[in-house]
Amino acid sequence: MTPYPEDLERWRRAAWISARARAVGVRAAVPGARRQDVAEAIEAAIRSQGAEPAFPANLSRNVEAAHYTPSPDDAEVLLAGDLLKVDVGAHLDGAIADTAETVEVGGGHRHDHLRSAVRAAVEAGIAEVRAGVAVDRISRAIEGAIHARGLKPVRNLTGHTIERYLLHAGKAIPNASGMSTDRLSEGEIVAIEPFATNGAGEIENGPFGNIVRFRSEPAGTTPVARSWFERFRTLPFTARWIPAEERGAFSQVRRHLQSYPVFLERGGGLVAQWEHTVLVGPQGAEVLTRGDGAAGSAP
Ligand code: CO
Repeated sequence: MTPYPEDLERWRRAAWISARARAVGVRAAVPGARRQDVAEAIEAAIRSQGAEPAFPANLSRNVEAAHYTPSPDDAEVLLAGDLLKVDVGAHLDGAIADTAETVEVGGGHRHDHLRSAVRAAVEAGIAEVRAGVAVDRISRAIEGAIHARGLKPVRNLTGHTIERYLLHAGKAIPNASGMSTDRLSEGEIVAIEPFATNGAGEIENGPFGNIVRFRSEPAGTTPVARSWFERFRTLPFTARWIPAEERGAFSQVRRHLQSYPVFLERGGGLVAQWEHTVLVGPQGAEVLTRGDGAAGSAP
């Protein structure tokens, strides 16, 4: 018995769709673009391939490390020099992929050092992945690549294993050493997700980032709310995906929902992130979210 999903082709296709949508977001993130329009372009790219977003497009910028998605009335625009994390997930029947890259809006070179550090860190982590490997080896490789550039990993954000309809499954993949005693098994799906910063190296909770998730089934509430549960199950969602006339039902399901705060760098540092979803093979990782869908056809 290995943990290989029996529908591995579906996972590969969800990953291809995620990588393509990530590239759509990167291209849309230009000075003057509304953050809301970038999020909607990403989510439309996912739906146009017959998949659903596994979570609202996360577009966290500068000191925001993660978990910000625009609200329905968000009119904020991107500025040249913003350091924007484009974190994207798609799923097909609960087969999920999760991938991110960091762009400097306007294509300048103010943030090359941070961007190249996390990019090197994700590759260093991926290079350690194989059946049976100690997770700490991956963490040490990630941390080493970031420290080598004089930066800090964000210690309290981690990569994670992924299972059907479960974005954050059993094992965490820390971005710093000495925090995990787990090993990876052949056939597991894993998101490797380093964050680097020039700040304190830790995040703290900020205000609500417009992302929620059902923590329990909203039995006994309104039919509208029950239809949301049918649609999203326990995956994260956002008010932008709900028709305006249905949003009143949020007040009736509050107790069934978990609300996510934006994660902010505790020292006010800038944060960059890079992320790939990989399959743990006997000799190494198969990176499922490589490429941008520009060439070749869908698996
Ligand atoms: Co992730």
